[in-house]
Amino acid sequence: DLPTRVRIHEVGARDGLQNEKATVPTEIKAEFIRRLADAGLTTIEATSFVHPKWVPQLADAEQLFPLVGDLPVALPVLVPNEKGLDRALALGARRVAVFASATESFAKANLNRTVDEALAMFEPVVGRAKTESVHVRGYLSMCFGDPWEGAVPLPQVVKVCRALLDMGCDELSLGDTIGVATPGHVVALLAALDEAGVPPTTLGVHFHDTYGQALSNTLAALQQGVTTVDASAGGLGGCPYAKSATGNLATEDLVWMLRGLGIDTGIDLGRLVATSAWMATHLGRPSPSRTVRALSHE
Ligand code: HMG
Ligand code: MG
Repeated sequence: DLPTRVRIHEVGARDGLQNEKATVPTEIKAEFIRRLADAGLTTIEATSFVHPKWVPQLADAEQLFPLVGDLPVALPVLVPNEKGLDRALALGARRVAVFASATESFAKANLNRTVDEALAMFEPVVGRAKTESVHVRGYLSMCFGDPWEGAVPLPQVVKVCRALLDMGCDELSLGDTIGVATPGHVVALLAALDEAGVPPTTLGVHFHDTYGQALSNTLAALQQGVTTVDASAGGLGGCPYAKSATGNLATEDLVWMLRGLGIDTGIDLGRLVATSAWMATHLGRPSPSRTVRALSHE
């Protein structure tokens, strides 16, 4: 069975632009987010309040957020710690995301912490956000494979998911950070999570398309009852602390598939393609999305 509606969590402005070599001017980022909202996206991850030396591409979060804060859409932002939360709350952010890792190697590379130290760092962030009625997403990276550790055992993923939910996260996003997942693995992980009391309705899926599996993995997840899917306009993306990661599932490719399945997203595909084509000219290279390429040459 497939859902009748899918919520798309757009990550292009954050997961996409955090990985660009060139720094995109703040005004272009704001225009990108405005155009995504205009195309009908309702959840648009805007930026990260992380250490500017760790992700210089998003060091303009303080300047960017006020430029888009009034848009009538949800604008989640990444916060790794209380310092990040302070910065986000000071600007009026109402949705934040912490980002954990299922593996020790990536926790170290991305957060300079062990898995448990990172969870301890998030605990007061989630606690304070909840007292302020701020919505909290918990990302979990390396849910399938890790560039240093290889395949990641299911119980290891389940354990960190449970910890994030137990500390109060409202939803989780399962990250295939380096894009190595295949549909059978997705089904197995969702089943293991369901058995541990983490139903698909609390989960989003976050696929990178390194091996061309993002759309197949998404379909498998939808068939298991997941209704929140992360995607990135034009297929922008990667992760600066996981070198083998390439772009996220392209939002246009996702919308094309969902439209064919009769699943409502409320997105104007023409406007979205035009936005990604416009962004590609700013980045100086064509979008990797097949749908963007197909529809921009019509
Ligand atoms: P650290 O070096 O251990 O930081 O980094 P610290 O806690 O020791 O603090 C050192 C200094 O940094 C202090 O300043 C802090 O104030 C400052 P000093 O006292 O020395 O002058 N500092 C900050 N400044 C501004 N904003 C902050 C902040 N925090 C500390 N928030 C830290 C630890 C977590 C900060 C660092 O590792 C970091 O910023 N990491 C972020 C990495 C990142 O953003 N990665 C990409 C996002 S995750 C991803 O892409 C995966 C995802 O898409 C899902 C998937 O695909 O799997 C979500
Ligand atoms: Mg990602």
